[in-house]
Amino acid sequence: PETDLILRPYASRDLAAVYDICLRTADAGADAAHLYTDPWVLGHRYAGPYVALEPDFAFVLESSERVVGYVLGVPDSARFAAESQANWFSLLRPLYPLPTETDKSLDAQARRLIHAGCPAPDAPWLEQYPAHLHIDLLPQAQGRGLGRALMEALWAALRAADVPGVHLGVGAGNPRAHAFYTHLGFTELEKVEGRFWTLGYDLR
Ligand code: ACO
Repeated sequence: PETDLILRPYASRDLAAVYDICLRTADAGADAAHLYTDPWVLGHRYAGPYVALEPDFAFVLESSERVVGYVLGVPDSARFAAESQANWFSLLRPLYPLPTETDKSLDAQARRLIHAGCPAPDAPWLEQYPAHLHIDLLPQAQGRGLGRALMEALWAALRAADVPGVHLGVGAGNPRAHAFYTHLGFTELEKVEGRFWTLGYDLR
C-alpha cells in the first residue's frame, strides 16, 4: 500500500536494487532487461559512480518489499567528470574491453559508455546549471507524485550546497519524461532534433 512507501537517503545496501531499476527503466523509460546480456553494464555507467562518489545527493523510494525508485544527482558535473574518470571508469575499463567497431549490439554500445566516462557538457550554460541528475521509478511507483517528491529532496540537498541550477538529458524517445520535467519547470537548454533534449532548472 501507498502508505508503506518512504523516501530516504541512499544507503549502500540499496546498490543492487538501484542497478536493477536502472536497467528496468533504460528503454526510454521501459524495461530493458531483455535487451542486454550483461545486466550490470548500464548501472556501471548511470548508477554506480553516482552513489559511490556523491551519495549525499542520492535518494530512494522504499516500499515494504523493495526499493522502487531513485534520484541520483551530482552537484558539480565538471568535478564529477574528473573524479569518476579517476576513481570509477578507469578501474572498470580493464573489465570491459572496448568492442570492435563492427559490433553494434546494445551490450557493445554500453561498454563504449564505460570507455567514454561521464564528460561534462562543454557548454556556456554549465556555470548556471552545474549539477545533473538521473531519476527512475519502477512502473508501480510512477504517476503518484513520487517523482516530484524525489526531485524536491534533491533540490533541498543541492540548495544546501549552494548549487545554482541543474541540467539533465532526456531522449527523444521518452516524451513522457520530457513532459514531466517541463511540468516541473525545466526549460530547454539544447536540442538535437530526433535524438535528445538537454533541459535546465534554476535552483535560486
Ligand atoms: N505530462 C504532463 N505532466 C506530467 C507527466 C506527463 N507525462 N508526468 C507527470 N506529470 C506531472 C504530474 O501530473 C504531476 O503534476 P503535479 O505535481 O502538479 O500534480 C507532476 O508531473 C509529478 O508527477 P509524478 O507523479 O511525481 O511523476 P512520476 O512519479 O511518474 O515521475 C518519471 C516521472 C520520473 C518520468 C517516472 O515516470 C519514471 O521514472 N519513468 C520511467 C523512467 C524514466 O523515464 N526516467 C527518466 C529518464 S531521463 C533522466 O533520468 C535524466
